[in-house]
Amino acid sequence: MSIIDFRSGVPDLTHFPRQIWGKMVQRACQEAPLSAFGYGRPEGRLELRQVVSRYLYRTRGVQCKPEQIIVTSGATQALTLIAKVLLGQGKSAVIEDPITQDIQTIFKATGAVLRPVSTDEYGLMTEQLPSREESAPSFVFLTPSNQFPLGGTLPIQRRLQLIRYARLTDCYIVEDDYDSEFRYDSAPISSLQGLAEERVIYIGSFSKILSPGLRLGYLVLPPDLVERYRDAKWYSDLHTPALDQLALAMFIEEGHLEKYISRVKKLYRKRRQALCGALEQTFLGTTDIRILGASAGLHIVAAFADIPFTPALLEKLQVAGVRVYPVEEHAICPGRHVDKIILGYGNLSEEKIVEGVKRLYSVLSVAGSLSGENL
Ligand SMILES: Cc1ncc(COP(=O)(O)O)c(C=O)c1O
Repeated sequence: MSIIDFRSGVPDLTHFPRQIWGKMVQRACQEAPLSAFGYGRPEGRLELRQVVSRYLYRTRGVQCKPEQIIVTSGATQALTLIAKVLLGQGKSAVIEDPITQDIQTIFKATGAVLRPVSTDEYGLMTEQLPSREESAPSFVFLTPSNQFPLGGTLPIQRRLQLIRYARLTDCYIVEDDYDSEFRYDSAPISSLQGLAEERVIYIGSFSKILSPGLRLGYLVLPPDLVERYRDAKWYSDLHTPALDQLALAMFIEEGHLEKYISRVKKLYRKRRQALCGALEQTFLGTTDIRILGASAGLHIVAAFADIPFTPALLEKLQVAGVRVYPVEEHAICPGRHVDKIILGYGNLSEEKIVEGVKRLYSVLSVAGSLSGENL
């Protein structure tokens, strides 16, 4: 029996536009100027930065010139560069709790202190930001379009409160916009960056909208930070591969990216429906189940009242052929999210999703876990 893996953050891999991408790569190689085969600039190819700045203005309300963009190897490298430039011993970052464990690790590796602020169904609880009398953090990190993992979208009042806080304490805001394109029930919310260009460091990635294997992302920086990030990128890996950047620039410029996003969005919408529908039908009347974060992204969170997803329960699920991911793994302050699991659906067919929910039920319905007994 092959395992059904509800890993989050993996887009559909079978629909990757191999043919068109292949053509772009071939053309990039044939048409690229000689400079693309030598050592390039750390900020990346101008062709790509120009296209990305237009794309971001059109789709995310991001206001930037190509000179404010640094092309990176995915959002992960963008986060590493941010940590390198702005964190270190004696510094601190305010960060959403829960938040991807990898991001916590990257920031903590510098010796900086993380100052967690809770999130609710609307994202970062801005009323819990440290008081202005406390020392200012280097930045506030958040995922305002689709909080990872809980899935909230930060309302405008909180956005304004956050910007006010950043201006008063003279800190930056790091906006990780890793999968904002996938919003199913309403138009995408504009970026925070568009509201405070001088304060926000914006992170974007092509991992979810195209392929994580490409390792392509970018930073949009306030103008006064650009020089330091160029240096950090240079001393990290000189620059991101030039031909990949040129292929991507053509792919976006010729409209293939937006067509691809609109095609896969339909697929994800169906998968999301299959998952939410299967959970509701299967668990109807058996337990109090709450679904969070279904309006955007490639995963949902399911909260099962009184079922703690302990290592023993996760092991039983794995033996039954289904892998799910506890929210608690990403918690900074432990204990608040033990009843929640992350279910990624981006790279699973509807049949697999339905079968995965059946397997989940088969384990939770034995040993009394659905009536609230701890496993
Ligand atoms: C919140 C968040 N930010 C950033 C990333 C990293 O993405 P990338 O593949 O672009 O490095 C992830 C990966 O899943 C993520 O969940």
